[in-house]
Amino acid sequence: MSRILITSALPYINGIKHLGNLVGSQLPADLYARYCRARGHEVLFLCATDEHGTPAELAAAKADMPVDAYCSQMHRTQARLAAGFGLSFDHFGRSSSPQNHRLTQYFAGRLAENGYISEVSEKMVYSPADGRFLPDRYIEGTCPNCGYDRARGDQCENCTKQLDPTDLLEPRSAISGATDLEVRETKHLFLRQSALKDDIDSWIDSKADWPVLTTSIAKKWLHDGDGLQDRGITRDLDWGIPVKKGDESWPGMEGKVFYVWFDAPIEYIACAAEWAEAQGKDEEDWWRWWRTDAGAEDVRYVQFMGKDNVPFHTLTFPSTLIGSRDPWKLVDYIKSFNYLNYDGGQFSTSQGRGIFQDDALEILPADYWRWWLLSNAPESSDSEFTWEKFQTGVNKDLADVLGNFVSRVTKFCRSKFGEEVPEGGEITEDGRRLIGELNTRLATYVGHMDAIEVRKAAAELRAIWVAGNEFLQTAAPWTSFKTDPERAAADIRLALNLIRVYAVLSAPFIPGAAATLLEAMCTDDTGWPSDMEAALAVLEAGHGFSVPDTLFAKIGDEDREGWEVRFAGGRG
Ligand code: 2FM
Ligand code: ZN
Repeated sequence: MSRILITSALPYINGIKHLGNLVGSQLPADLYARYCRARGHEVLFLCATDEHGTPAELAAAKADMPVDAYCSQMHRTQARLAAGFGLSFDHFGRSSSPQNHRLTQYFAGRLAENGYISEVSEKMVYSPADGRFLPDRYIEGTCPNCGYDRARGDQCENCTKQLDPTDLLEPRSAISGATDLEVRETKHLFLRQSALKDDIDSWIDSKADWPVLTTSIAKKWLHDGDGLQDRGITRDLDWGIPVKKGDESWPGMEGKVFYVWFDAPIEYIACAAEWAEAQGKDEEDWWRWWRTDAGAEDVRYVQFMGKDNVPFHTLTFPSTLIGSRDPWKLVDYIKSFNYLNYDGGQFSTSQGRGIFQDDALEILPADYWRWWLLSNAPESSDSEFTWEKFQTGVNKDLADVLGNFVSRVTKFCRSKFGEEVPEGGEITEDGRRLIGELNTRLATYVGHMDAIEVRKAAAELRAIWVAGNEFLQTAAPWTSFKTDPERAAADIRLALNLIRVYAVLSAPFIPGAAATLLEAMCTDDTGWPSDMEAALAVLEAGHGFSVPDTLFAKIGDEDREGWEVRFAGGRG
């Protein structure tokens, strides 16, 4: 048994997230957390809302609410939707928590003590029309790197380059659209990432097993152009964590707050402290996950995120941790994702384009979405959601393969042998062949899940379901029953047991359906199968079961067409 710390990128608080956000971090993180727990590992799975910075302020202004009230309300909404999708966080925290205030100020103090903070008089964009500085997303313009014309002042979402507002070409205010902008001097703190370049470089070099997507983005920003740049970590904003050195004030920094991308990853740590407090635990209980001097050297730490987040997790956050010169746990593996596109374009929160979590759960249960999104996760390249692909995937995999197997087996047994596992003879030849195939496929499935190869794991799980159907077709118990009922009973006994095994293996992908199957099989034995023959003998002759309701209803053409129309226009 190992200890595995899992974090998902923290969703911005600025509204309900779309399915592209979900599949790029929280959902695969949940898949892995559920799998690791099922394998008997001790897991701490953390996520939180990312509540500071311009996204929060702009969204609160749009909702005409004070920003703190907006964040509290939206945190509750996001927590409810996360539960609706079955995301099994051990804690869903908030980056505005007192724990994160304390830790962020602590890290800034440590970095300053170690010489990794410089105070810089900076030229910032000021908007006389708005009467304020325009940091980060308060400003938009054309990316100097790729020419994308809606790049934001902190990062271009098209090419992932981290930007400063003064880098943008043809800049405009995101508040008023004003273009009569000035550049004014203001003092800010900078994290001296350039002084930590060698540490970061050799740390990344030591991660030979990281996915290419992660390493290539990290290396690009380490070595391209001028290399690792120092980053401003403070802002002239009202909402955020006040700039302090530990508990002490920071002369010259009064009225300023830390930059959201400085405090947000620190919330990964603060979230563990929040979790401990919520559980009535002590500091040592969360230190054993985060401090290598308190037990965390045995922890495997895995992060999940979209590709635009990779520079912050491979360069900025590690610079904070390493620069503190404290024994904080560094990430062991970063699983990053490309983008999921929607019907020929990008999902977009700002343009309301695509399918959003609340609408998705309103039209279909979570498992339909979980299965389709995970089995089409944008791993090696961007992937695309279309309603047609969604309909086909759900109908074929869930209804025709898994659902059909369960329905045929349970109904046939009920009609011929009653609602209990039948006695019957020894495992048949068809049964032996099935067990052989399942043992091989199980090893492959486990290999993909261990490697967090999401699509490959889904494909193998589907093949495991298909194997059950093929067995049924070949063994044909409805025919053998007429001449050799003992043999039919033996095959059905195996197939009923396979339903329990399907529940266990499928639970990380489709936890709702898995729970229904276990209930129908009247068992809470969720033991992970090591040997299929043993796993397929767990439910003994005489064990009762019931026929479940239709596990997955097929998506009809009319439904699909209706949703195509409903979601075509985007939402306001
Ligand atoms: O891109 C985003 O949605 C960010 N809110 C992710 C933050 S991850 C972490 F560092 F907090
Ligand atoms: Zn760009």
